Amino acid sequence: MRSVCDDLVQSLLLQAAGSGGGGSDSEAVVLRPLLRRAMLELLVYRCFGVRLGREALDEIQELQLQVLHSIATTTFPIFDFLPAVTKRLFRRRWAACVAVRRRQEELYLPLIHATRDGDGVLPPCYARSLLAVRVPEPPEGSSRPLTDAEMTILCSEFLNASGHTTGTLIEWIMAELVRHHDIQASVYAEVKEAGCCPDELLLNEDGGDDRLPAMQSSSSSSSYLKAVVLEGLRLHSPAHFLIPHGVQSESDAEPEVDGYTVPKDAEINFMVTEIGGDVKVWTRPLEFCPERFLEGGEGYDIDIKGIKEIKMIPFGVGRRMCPGYSLAMRIAEYFVARLVMATVAAAGGGGGGGHGRGARFHYRHEASTTCSHHPKELIGVTQQ
Ligand code: HEM
Repeated sequence: MRSVCDDLVQSLLLQAAGSGGGGSDSEAVVLRPLLRRAMLELLVYRCFGVRLGREALDEIQELQLQVLHSIATTTFPIFDFLPAVTKRLFRRRWAACVAVRRRQEELYLPLIHATRDGDGVLPPCYARSLLAVRVPEPPEGSSRPLTDAEMTILCSEFLNASGHTTGTLIEWIMAELVRHHDIQASVYAEVKEAGCCPDELLLNEDGGDDRLPAMQSSSSSSSYLKAVVLEGLRLHSPAHFLIPHGVQSESDAEPEVDGYTVPKDAEINFMVTEIGGDVKVWTRPLEFCPERFLEGGEGYDIDIKGIKEIKMIPFGVGRRMCPGYSLAMRIAEYFVARLVMATVAAAGGGGGGGHGRGARFHYRHEASTTCSHHPKELIGVTQQ
């Protein structure tokens, strides 16, 4: 995580230095493409246990985007409907989907199988855990390993589920910090006061806590940095809906929610963003206010897994809850801390919200071209 973030910070500062000074929008460095690439690199590493070169990452990024696009539009879902007919009717569309999957298999399978030989050399990674999975099948007590096609699909799902969500969250948080210099200054002060540079905000490769003791204790509910990340998740949840869920009931009676009867087996979804903005739960829900997650606030000690209560569900709840939620929180905390520290340092000041002499973040009001969930284009660092 450290070296990927190092590269990101360095690229931002280098691009800012090369942008010529002046601080106008035209000279600004855009955070999004650099952040997206950093997330991809980091999560490819978590997936396959190796750092890949630029060309391989370019191709993976392109393939993953094509998969995402085909799922988000009608390109792929249309084949759920009478597949024997639709595959003939939309022959070219089907061929394009198959070509993407084939290329993914060519790229991912050697990486997946290499993790088998890398025992003790490679860090633990998602692909290696897939090799150990057994799928139960008849007769009872029998099982089989995952097929190559299944492992490819699972790695593809892992990459798409983790990268865009976490990158979008960080981008939104940075956009809010640009608008709220006092919050940015508090993050800076907290990380500095904890006696560490954010390099120590790290998990080690086994998932253990490598951070300085001061930061470890501050990862409790009272950490301001964590409160900033939680507030980002509440107000700008990267997922507006969950994966569709089916209604189940052990009794014959149809389940009731809030006085409404929900038919058994119905497909339902949840308005994640609306839950985080419920006026009955949150005061001034449209305001970015991390203090609500500190002691005394309505979100203090929040149960993000929704076991005790449900106040916000950015990662879903229950059996299908996002399995990467704690990794996502750690990545967001680390990257936000590093970006704040780096830009404040580049600005030649401490706690001034990145408005010193050298560099600063600012914000361009422009619609996103890729995803409506993204903040308006966030400008990275500009020289002053
Ligand atoms: C801020 C970052 C993230 C957010 C907001 C997020 C949110 C979600 C949500 C809402 C779901 C659907 C849950 C449901 O329908 O009940 C989900 C599923 C999933 N997430 Fe995340 N996620 C994030 C990061 C990650 C990361 C870092 C990983 C991997 C390391 C990951 C892996 C997955 C996978 C594999 C699923 C599918 C689970 C299934 O089908 O049962 N996510 N995520």
